[in-house]
Amino acid sequence: MTGWVAMEIRPATAADVPGLQAIYDPHTLSSHTTFHTEPVPAGVWLERLASPHAGDQILVAVDEGRALGAAWSTAFRPRAAYDATRETSVYLADDATGRGIGRGLYDVLLGRLAEVGVHTAVAAVALPNDASVALHRACGFADVGVLCEVGHKLDRWIDVRWFQKML
Ligand SMILES: CC(C)(COP(=O)(O)OP(=O)(O)OC[C@H]1O[C@@H](n2cnc3c(N)ncnc32)[C@H](O)[C@@H]1OP(=O)(O)O)[C@@H](O)C(=O)NCCC(=O)NCCS
Repeated sequence: MTGWVAMEIRPATAADVPGLQAIYDPHTLSSHTTFHTEPVPAGVWLERLASPHAGDQILVAVDEGRALGAAWSTAFRPRAAYDATRETSVYLADDATGRGIGRGLYDVLLGRLAEVGVHTAVAAVALPNDASVALHRACGFADVGVLCEVGHKLDRWIDVRWFQKML
């Protein structure tokens, strides 16, 4: 089995958008792990890639030309005072989980965010999600509480656990 250290983790480019969609879109349709309920159009990914904010980043983990996972950071809330806070996310292809790729992506992303002056990273994990909760804790995020039933998807109410890491 290939370990994450053997694969390339690098900033995504426009050419990676189909790979990003292949990773993320299945989660939008069939899983509660994201609160998107439909595939994200290519134009949205391209807009994110073009963000002028140094704290807005998208990384991909690529093995033999295929993107197996991606991690990204986006604005937390659209208010100027939140400018140095970024919300982070990480998603892998179904056949790529459990071998350190999520950890590898997050470690690189968090390091890059610290380098560009992001003050703190926050992450929302829709429950249950043992793998994501474990990943955030392993990466040094603190558990800051649960918002009950703030999401509704796949015919049920969904709690969200918030995590935070000071960078
Ligand atoms: C969540 C996700 C990104 C984790 O990535 P991953 O590559 O599978 O996780 P890793 O192998 O890097 O493991 C990271 C840590 O989590 C732990 N972990 C991984 N999967 C786990 C599971 N199913 N249950 C419990 N712990 C788990 C690992 O043991 C490791 O901890 P350690 O460093 O203390 O040993 C991945 O499973 C995924 O893409 N899931 C579907 C999408 C998703 O839920 N994204 C997050 C949305 S908030």
